[in-house]
Amino acid sequence: MRVSRRALVMGAGAAVAAGGVFPVRSSFAEPATKEYRLTPKPATVNLTGKGHSDTDVWAYNGAVPGPELRVRQGEPVRLVVSNNLGEETTVHWHGVRLPNAMDGVPGLTQPPIRPGESFYYEFTPRDAGTFWYHPHADSLQQLGLGLAGALIVEEREPVAVDHDLLWFIQDWRLDGESRIAPGFGNRMEASMSGRIGNKITINGRNPDRVSARAGERIRLRLANAALARIVGLRFEGHKPVIVAYDGQPCAPHPPEADRVVLGPAMRADLIIDMDGEPGQTYRVTDDFYQDLAYKLVDFVYASEKPIRDTRDRQLKLPANPLTEPDLAAAERHEIALQGGMAGGMSGMDMSGMGGATWAMNGMSMTGDGQPDMPPLFTFKRGQSCVLALRNETAWWHPMHLHGHSFRVISRNGKPNELREWRDTVLVPARESAEIAFVADNPGDWMFHCHVTDHQEAGMMTVIRVA
Ligand code: C2O
Ligand code: CU
Repeated sequence: MRVSRRALVMGAGAAVAAGGVFPVRSSFAEPATKEYRLTPKPATVNLTGKGHSDTDVWAYNGAVPGPELRVRQGEPVRLVVSNNLGEETTVHWHGVRLPNAMDGVPGLTQPPIRPGESFYYEFTPRDAGTFWYHPHADSLQQLGLGLAGALIVEEREPVAVDHDLLWFIQDWRLDGESRIAPGFGNRMEASMSGRIGNKITINGRNPDRVSARAGERIRLRLANAALARIVGLRFEGHKPVIVAYDGQPCAPHPPEADRVVLGPAMRADLIIDMDGEPGQTYRVTDDFYQDLAYKLVDFVYASEKPIRDTRDRQLKLPANPLTEPDLAAAERHEIALQGGMAGGMSGMDMSGMGGATWAMNGMSMTGDGQPDMPPLFTFKRGQSCVLALRNETAWWHPMHLHGHSFRVISRNGKPNELREWRDTVLVPARESAEIAFVADNPGDWMFHCHVTDHQEAGMMTVIRVA
């Protein structure tokens, strides 16, 4: 069966097998199209380890996280999403520069996928890197109940490493019996840090130990798929080098103050030379929140003596085909991030804000996406843009722009020397950041905070590229 774009939404009972082995190649499709099937549905998994109860989740193909999708830069991919949930969903391919109709925002870029229906997402990734996918409908619940997975676009010539590892980090709020606690969208929480959990998993498991061998070089792809938690990772006894943020290569550099900070939705690719002693154990800790430091996982070294030395190898990833913004010709706009609970303002009256507690330039868009969201700005295709974000609130916001990657050109008025490309920029409380990009992807693109509670409660807007 050849599916045209016009027949993207298929009725209930469509001939798409749920689950199954992937990837599959459809014999009637364009020769090189790689096809994956994703079926979001309720499932039961073990998140907390042996001897603990299982947890009822929502999961792609029954697994938490969903399958690690591996595709090639410049090769077409088709993702068949069959909704086996009891409610509407969509899938957003976070960070991937793709056609607007494939972006997965309900109402804005596609009709939501109703229960029993399927949607065919088709695109050809222009950029190699570490991306991820998640629903953009009923996001708090759907992401919070487990729907998320990694999308890795492989470079044509990857850097040489001994192991390419993914740590897909999820944050859960569980009760004593490993059940997911209710209370998504709690208003008090929504006006503060958002729903931070009490159980972290790496690749869907209670992290415990990662085996290592002295002398190896690993590439570690970190993805923070939490609803609200920011992580700040330290690698005891090791010197990680950051080679990419949000899938986009950057000049290799050590993390600032020896800590890799990732807000919700953010990724970093690290190269780590395993320079520890055979037989020893080294801790990876997260101390982002003061006084709440904990050990995330241990690197446990085998007792064999070190394998070869890898240090003279190349660290830099090949560049992606991004267009450099022309700062001299750029249109510049300010965006104030506003709202939330501030110190001493706990009695703030939000009753007049129609369920919104957050805003961008005084405007609040709530929820996950709907038709007719008026754009905050409209750019001509090809226009260079600078957005100056000013966080007037007492909380941190990871601000994500769909459909584009941008350079972070300054922070708090000072030029940012690294000028890294990202799709999500973390703006600390009361601080500012300037981002620059070329509006070269036509369509209506969301720009929102990725603390899911903040997005749902108003910190969201739309940027139009005409
Ligand atoms: Cu990963 Cu609109 O988000
Ligand atoms: Cu926020």
